[in-house]
Amino acid sequence: MAPSVVLTSSPLPRHIGIIMDGNGRWAQRKKQLRTQGHLEGLKTAKKIVKAASDLHIKFLTLYVFSTENWKRTAEEVGFIMGLVKQYLKAELDFYRENRIRIRHAGDPEGLPPDIARELAEACEDTRSFEGLQVILALNYGGRDAIVRAVGRWFDSLEKLEKGIPAKITEEGIRGCLDNPDIPDPDLIIRTAGEYRTSNFLLWEGAYAEYYFSETLWPDWTEADLCAAISAYQQRERRFGGGNP
Ligand code: IPE
Ligand code: IPE
Ligand code: MG
Repeated sequence: MAPSVVLTSSPLPRHIGIIMDGNGRWAQRKKQLRTQGHLEGLKTAKKIVKAASDLHIKFLTLYVFSTENWKRTAEEVGFIMGLVKQYLKAELDFYRENRIRIRHAGDPEGLPPDIARELAEACEDTRSFEGLQVILALNYGGRDAIVRAVGRWFDSLEKLEKGIPAKITEEGIRGCLDNPDIPDPDLIIRTAGEYRTSNFLLWEGAYAEYYFSETLWPDWTEADLCAAISAYQQRERRFGGGNP
């Protein structure tokens, strides 16, 4: 896709988050197993990562697996974890060629050890790449992320033997999130006609612009990404400051 497809001279979102939803329904409609939907969803993820990289987007957070998705059948969970492992292993050359850095948001301790290891290795191997940063939200929950951040903050204070702080601050909590250096998402996209956050980027998304698409994730294309960015570029962001 030629980046020139996009768009006006308005700034691009620096950070896009995507709730990649609808894999199961895509498969159901085709009378296939849900797992087939996840396989197609993975292909779409690759395509959208490449498009975001070509557009010089700086950060892309993909919601891969939530802290609530463990409620699904063992078969489905096992299949998704297998796909993640395969993706991390197989795509190293693709990240290298495109200078894409892989990062993780979520609790690695709740992941199967082999997946946590692959993920840590992919993050390490791509650490120096200065292109698009792809943040894989895996075993990720917005509430869990805040709870872990507060826990880290308290741990660090204990180590410094300063005791409990007199004042709890936003900066203090924010600085202890999984990736405190990553700017808040400007644009959060959800596919498949659902209109909820499902526990995605609760803290960071406070002032994100939301974009909802009816299209199921496996059917998403570069053109859908451009349409979402174009809609974002027409929004007026006020951050509570009122009309100019
Ligand atoms: C998104 O697709 C993938 C994950 C949540 C892991 P779904 O599997 O939720 O698809 P639907 O919502 O059932 O169609
Ligand atoms: C959100 O989708 C999680 C991911 C896309 C990874 P879900 O399909 O799990 O969300 P709900 O259950 O419809 O809210
Ligand atoms: Mg779903």
